[in-house]
Amino acid sequence: MTQDELKKAVARAAIAQVIEGEIVGVGTGSTANCFIDELARIRDRIRGAVASSEATRKRLEGHGIVVFELNDVAYLPVYVDGADEINTAMQMIKGGGGALTREKIVAAVAQKFVCIADASKLVPVLGAFPLPVEVIPMALGHVRRELARIGGKPQLREGFVTDNGNLILDLGGLVMADPVELESRINQIVGVVSNGLFARRPADICLLGTAAGVKMLTADRTVETEAHGPAAVQPPSSSATSQARGGT
Ligand code: A5P
Repeated sequence: MTQDELKKAVARAAIAQVIEGEIVGVGTGSTANCFIDELARIRDRIRGAVASSEATRKRLEGHGIVVFELNDVAYLPVYVDGADEINTAMQMIKGGGGALTREKIVAAVAQKFVCIADASKLVPVLGAFPLPVEVIPMALGHVRRELARIGGKPQLREGFVTDNGNLILDLGGLVMADPVELESRINQIVGVVSNGLFARRPADICLLGTAAGVKMLTADRTVETEAHGPAAVQPPSSSATSQARGGT
């Protein structure tokens, strides 16, 4: 199977994670785009979506899916997004598309983070993919020096401005032995808006596209799933919904 076919397979599988009648958070990137195309087929069975970038908003609206502002949404059961790297603890590097800050905000609100990725994204240790760091423009020099002090090699993403009007430094050369500590440490640098480590809030599950089908990974186990079966929205389960909302 090609990488594109694997992305489409995980996007189809992710539809089963969407809760009927609810709003779904939608990530950014080529895998998330495949998910949006699948979501279009069930748009009458959801209330709408929250977008993690302007590109995602446009694609959702292009499919006739209602897009809500995050501030108007009190309850977001599921967020579906891709990753640049994911480890077996479900920690990720994200932001290859530059949408890391909005992705992190939507992920923080969501009850469940569903990562969709082809098998090439699963790594034993994060860090081969340069870590994107979103920076307020006037702080660029300062942040670049501070990142170099912690041992990284920051590189400005030339000609790129985020949806929030900021810059991206791509940070290579770091050994990510403790992603939670590193995420916090980089966020402490004045002028950093956020960084692409999703370790403090990892994914809850990963739907991983492999040649043998879609596998469902969590931090402690792997479950084989129906790889190529028909996509279906989960029927609303009163007990599952009540638990997700914090009920008993
Ligand atoms: C967007 O800023 C990123 O976080 C994407 O989620 C990530 O780069 C994965 O993108 P692809 O699905 O295009 O590989």
